[in-house]
Amino acid sequence: MKRYETLHDRLHEWYRRHGRHDLPWRRTRDPYRIYLSEIMLQQTRVETVLERYWGPFLERFPTLSSVAAATEGEVLKAWEGLGYYNRARYLHRTARLCDGALPRSAAELEKLPGIGRSTAHAIACFAFDEPLPILDANVRRILHRFFALDEATPSRLWEAAGELFDAGRPYDYNQAMMDLGAMVCTPKAPECSACPLREGCAGREDPQRYPRPRKRPGIPVRKRQILVLRRGDALGLVRNEGRFLGGMWSFPQRIEAPRSGRKIGKVRRTYSHFRIEGSVWEVKELPDEKLRFFTPAECESLAMSALDRDVLKLVKKEMQ
Ligand code: ADE
Repeated sequence: MKRYETLHDRLHEWYRRHGRHDLPWRRTRDPYRIYLSEIMLQQTRVETVLERYWGPFLERFPTLSSVAAATEGEVLKAWEGLGYYNRARYLHRTARLCDGALPRSAAELEKLPGIGRSTAHAIACFAFDEPLPILDANVRRILHRFFALDEATPSRLWEAAGELFDAGRPYDYNQAMMDLGAMVCTPKAPECSACPLREGCAGREDPQRYPRPRKRPGIPVRKRQILVLRRGDALGLVRNEGRFLGGMWSFPQRIEAPRSGRKIGKVRRTYSHFRIEGSVWEVKELPDEKLRFFTPAECESLAMSALDRDVLKLVKKEMQ
């Protein structure tokens, strides 16, 4: 695309000077590491991934085959704290489906669980040099501004992504766009004077007009009763089924308060679409529950949500 040649040159020069070249997933061509980074970064910030999860996860699971050889529970345990646990379940399923090696094209990657179009493009581009654009939140914002789009359908945005794309240097282009979105074309206070794309940018006079802010409805609060049943030193837990926290171990929850029991505290956590406010009760019986009993020490090796870890803390205090 000759049309954007000068802007591409400027973008590459900017990336050469300012890009985050030391990110560990940019210093490898190992498809598994690149895939893992893209999955972790789907919903988690670069800093959080780097500080707390990247090293330990890879130490525990250095290859895709090692993920396939583990149980889902073990993968969830290593993912604990990162949230959006479906990512870990899909990672495990993908590892088992792939038999040690990821497919090498975006079209094949996109058929795997947990890999959408942009993630498939990112992996295919970064691991196998397939010349395809990505469309994550940062790139979307840049495109909205560059093409002065108030609102745009996904297909319009993919078209815009293809238009600005540098197919001659796909790897650097995609990494540079992500850095530009993270460092210059930021949601608030974009730094247009430092932007290598400014001369072609149709939105530069009023960048914050694009994209038009969506009115987010307030998230609902789910009030829950969290029930703790002790048997000696052990605590009754259930293994969640279904999409939300599937495969993770939790204290049983109810909508209604128990008829008898002792309230030992409150916990709250905010998720993407709702907040949970839980009252924690110690109860003497819990009919109709498929409970399994674990001591607090045994709970350390289970995968549990942050909310359930908060409950566990309260319970441990009570047990002292
Ligand atoms: N977010 C998603 N993929 C990324 C990458 N490769 N580098 C930095 N941030 C990212």
